Amino acid sequence: MTSFTQTRSGLWHERRYRVFADLERIAGRFPRAIWHSPQGPREVVIWCSNDYLGMSQHPKVIGAMVEIATRMGTGAGGTRNISGTNHPLVELERELADLHGKEAALVFTSGYVSNQTGMATIAKLIPNCLILSDALNHNSMIEGIRHSGAEKKIWRHNDTGHLEELLEHAGSDRPKLIVFESLYYIDGDVAPIRRISALAERYDAMTYLDEVHAVGMYGAAGAGIAAREGVMQRINVIEGTLAKAFGCLGGYVAGSANLVDAPGFIFTTALPPAICAAATVAIRHLKSSQSERSRQQECAARVKSALTAAGLPIILSETHIVPVMVGDPEKCKRASDLLLSEHGIYLQPINYPTAPRGTERLRITATPYHDDVLIDQLAEALTDVWRRVALPLEGCVIGAAE
Ligand SMILES: Cc1ncc(COP(=O)(O)O)c(C=O)c1O
Repeated sequence: MTSFTQTRSGLWHERRYRVFADLERIAGRFPRAIWHSPQGPREVVIWCSNDYLGMSQHPKVIGAMVEIATRMGTGAGGTRNISGTNHPLVELERELADLHGKEAALVFTSGYVSNQTGMATIAKLIPNCLILSDALNHNSMIEGIRHSGAEKKIWRHNDTGHLEELLEHAGSDRPKLIVFESLYYIDGDVAPIRRISALAERYDAMTYLDEVHAVGMYGAAGAGIAAREGVMQRINVIEGTLAKAFGCLGGYVAGSANLVDAPGFIFTTALPPAICAAATVAIRHLKSSQSERSRQQECAARVKSALTAAGLPIILSETHIVPVMVGDPEKCKRASDLLLSEHGIYLQPINYPTAPRGTERLRITATPYHDDVLIDQLAEALTDVWRRVALPLEGCVIGAAE
């Protein structure tokens, strides 16, 4: 066997080799989609989308994308330094700076790229910078840190005592950058942002906060969890995505004008004008509309209580993410397959390396459009599948890390 075949079969054996369902989402009927199954097309309900508020199907957002594509064409026409910046991109960056109460924002083609490039650039701007990174930070941040070439130290997830030890040890003269997320998407837990900001001020460190899984959904205007906690102004750089709650594509960093000047965007084609315009409309809508946020939270609460009542082992957090623990890659994949083929429910298995080994799970994301009927169907389907794959229904509820 070649090493490639061996690696592939090893991944397959562990159920890590990813097989993606062939889906066609139906605009206007969120969260429904057509699954192109081996037996032919079939309607299913998606329970794991990161289009958290269904904004990708909002008539105003679709309208803006169609109108601008019709008026300005589909592509951006080049990198900014070759072709200039398209006007909808300028407007989008202004909107984002305003959302986060910062001097400036810079948009990239994805949240991944914004972390990778943004963080590397910021750390390079600060000579001898020490990066203090939460242990569960996303791969894009880890890559950004690696690209920066700066020294890094890892603090235990959400453990501010450990962070303080590292800050103290670094000494007062050394420039320090604390890098963390507001909402960790695997367990759905939230960072103690207020305590981290206080430590940053006490030890004269800068802060870089990834709000990818929170923007649009938390805070009175959808600016994220730091805004909800009233500490957004104490965070130096906020990074976010346009691809999840804002329903489009792209990522950004927002901060002071001198920090938000990463060179990474110069060498890649800018985001197309139609996507920028659609994202701006989604952001503006969610700045004033509370109904999507409140309905999403109501749905999350109902999902948690229905699954708890059914004895399913969920991780409880205050957020819209509801992980159901399986703890076995084989069973996790089988449970996901049965949900899709027998119950028409799409829930992608989360196995290693996305989740640590032994913590394989199904990750449910509550949205404003999963109603009571869908929630009851989900609870029944999960209960049936749990029995069939011989998983315990003991009502064990696990508290998320703080
Ligand atoms: C914490 C975090 N940051 C950044 C990203 C990348 O965002 P995007 O999907 O816009 O590339 C992700 C992707 O899910 C993420 O989970």
